Amino acid sequence: MSSSAAWQELHCTASKDQVEALEDWFFEAGALSVTLEDQADQPLLEPGPGETPLWDAVQVTALFAGDQDLQPVLVAVPADLVTEAPQTIVPVADREWTRVWENQFQPMKMGNRLWICPSWTPPPEPDAVNLLLDPGLAFGTGTHPTTAMCLRALDAASLEDARIVDYGCGSGILGIAAVLLGAQQVLGVDNDPQAITASHDNAKRNEVPVAQFSVHLPATSALEAWQGSADWVVANILAGPLIELEPVLTSLMAPKGRLLLAGLLEEQAEQIIAAYAPEVTLTVADQQEEWMLLAGQRH
Ligand SMILES: C[S@@+](CC[C@H](N)C(=O)[O-])C[C@H]1O[C@@H](n2cnc3c(N)ncnc32)[C@H](O)[C@@H]1O
Repeated sequence: MSSSAAWQELHCTASKDQVEALEDWFFEAGALSVTLEDQADQPLLEPGPGETPLWDAVQVTALFAGDQDLQPVLVAVPADLVTEAPQTIVPVADREWTRVWENQFQPMKMGNRLWICPSWTPPPEPDAVNLLLDPGLAFGTGTHPTTAMCLRALDAASLEDARIVDYGCGSGILGIAAVLLGAQQVLGVDNDPQAITASHDNAKRNEVPVAQFSVHLPATSALEAWQGSADWVVANILAGPLIELEPVLTSLMAPKGRLLLAGLLEEQAEQIIAAYAPEVTLTVADQQEEWMLLAGQRH
């Protein structure tokens, strides 16, 4: 049987342990792509370099060419590779895929002054503070609640002439925003080399010179030079690393310097507040969905 649609899909669900073998099986059966999505609305943040994030329950979509006879594939999906087998063959019209993708990323306003604008649409407010950014491989497009809360907090702050550390900079979105909002100098830090490259590229695109936003791996001499001098330290990382990094982050802060921490869930806030209590009194500054933003000032 062949279909008149340009593409066809099979949809099924699998557990985290089944996904890798299921993906291989679909590719063996002729799939052109296999897409994984969260089945249980379970929040996930950026993993360490080289790790692949996966939810406990995964919704799997295998895309095939429209002229493949999919009936034999549909009935042959191995039962031990899925929690719910595909039921039907879903025809997919030949859509303008680029447009579908681009429609998902539209300019986003973050607070009063700041906009995050993709390249495919003109900034809605040309005179606003417009950060030009397209989604890429490094985390940080502005769509994630943790990034959005940090951006709104930076927008609301008075950053004129401030020295800022963006720890776990990803795409560089927070550091670049800080410069565009008036910061004098930003140090970006990330343990993923891909994030360093993305931050450089995005800074260049926004005409932010390296002298104002330099990006480094942890434990380099650049961090030494910033000890005790940052007016603001911003870190959007997971709760575990935020706790481990407490000595590093607080040592970068100037006396009375300010700290913004994101990447933690509501139930993790208390543990982080306790870990930082000797140096910084943190309070909840914002909450979006299940994510919290903590803010405080060094004693
Ligand atoms: C959730 S992303 C945040 C990216 C961006 N700052 C934002 O707000 O959208 C976390 C970033 O922290 C980095 N990261 C995780 N653990 C780290 C560590 N121990 N030291 C430095 N960077 C780390 C990851 O590589 C990732 O780029």
